[in-house]
Amino acid sequence: MVIFFRKKDLEVELSPGLQRLKLKTGDNLLASALDHGIKWPYLCRVGSCGTCRCKLIKGKISPEIDFENVLNQAQLKDGYILACKSSVKTDLVVEVTLRNET
Ligand code: FES
Repeated sequence: MVIFFRKKDLEVELSPGLQRLKLKTGDNLLASALDHGIKWPYLCRVGSCGTCRCKLIKGKISPEIDFENVLNQAQLKDGYILACKSSVKTDLVVEVTLRNET
C-alpha cells in the first residue's frame, strides 16, 4: 500500500479507494493515520517495537527519537521510519503494509 500525504489540504490516497485527511505540520504520522481510521500496524506507540515502520518514499518528517535504536542499517538506508515517532514536516508519500493486507 502506498499512501500519499499532502500537508496543505492533506490527502491520503488508499488504493483502490480515496480518503482525504487534514494534517498540520508537526502532527504525528501514526496518530493522524489512526484518527482517520487507517489500519496502520502498531503495538507500543513509543518507538521500541518497530511494528509501525513504513517506507518514506517522498517528503520530510522530523524523527522524535533516534530510529537507529529499532531499525537496522539496511532499513534506514532504504528510507524506513517509525510512524509513531515521526512528525510531519512536508507533503509525504509513504509505503506501508496495512493490518488488513497481511
Ligand atoms: S508502534 Fe512500536 S515502534 Fe511504533
